[in-house]
Amino acid sequence: PTIFVITPTYARLVQKAELTRMSQTFLHVPRLHWILVEDSPHKTPLVTDLLMKSGLTYTHLHMPTAKDRKLQEGDPSWLKPRGVEQRNEGLRWLREDRRAQPGGDNQQGVVYFADDDNTYSLQLFEEMRSTQRVSVWPVGLVGGMKYERPVVEGGKVVRFHTGWRPSRPFPIDMAGFAVSLKLVLANPEACFDGEAPMGLLESSFLQGLVTMDELEPKADNCTKVLVWHTRTEKPKMKREEALQAQGLGSDPAVE
Ligand code: UGA
Ligand code: MN
Repeated sequence: PTIFVITPTYARLVQKAELTRMSQTFLHVPRLHWILVEDSPHKTPLVTDLLMKSGLTYTHLHMPTAKDRKLQEGDPSWLKPRGVEQRNEGLRWLREDRRAQPGGDNQQGVVYFADDDNTYSLQLFEEMRSTQRVSVWPVGLVGGMKYERPVVEGGKVVRFHTGWRPSRPFPIDMAGFAVSLKLVLANPEACFDGEAPMGLLESSFLQGLVTMDELEPKADNCTKVLVWHTRTEKPKMKREEALQAQGLGSDPAVE
């Protein structure tokens, strides 16, 4: 089955670096279709060009985050969920596109939500490819811990190793699960709730789809970390600003 990867992305200094790293990881993954959704009122030339030259199978979409939902300069990053409207737009496109595909295998596939700043092992994609309903695995460097993970006993997920609110329905980071396309299509209303309280975004999507008992543990019964919730430091622009003030700033035409 094809892996449909839905990625929200937004313009900032590190965007091209993030998307370059990500696309070059994906080049090593067979049968991957990248659904890249820009948080923007229009498709930007930077992303359009990067995708065109990437060598990947992709769909380029855009969906701006509503202004009252968007983080403002100076807001702490946890105040509002990010990437919500973009992931939902990716789901909308996927449902519509699959309906339009003739033949019996238009339901074959796996859906994964991959943020543009994480670090993905190639092994992760082979693990998720066999997803029947919802598969899960550990995520490294997340939630103020070395890793969070589902705890597996007798082949079943019995609880979650997490440092924060373990009673959440699904205390799993976005990077820690994949869903079969079939399940996504069978539940046309399933989407991410932008109003979900902090930490409940993943649960808002998974709640109606699956129970803890049905989760399929991957990565050696959730004992291996194959994805890391890395976050990229915001680059300092002190010198740039000083030079700009003298009219000697970097060429804005260079991406
Ligand atoms: C954590 C989770 O790993 C995310 O999946 C979750 O969406 C987020 O928290 C949340 O609470 O909303 P974190 O590293 O804090 O992630 O979030 P970012 O990586 O900054 O953003 C998640 C995705 O949304 C990224 O792909 C990013 O490019 C995108 N994004 C971010 C936008 O499209 N627009 C924005 O204004 C900000
Ligand atoms: Mn992130």
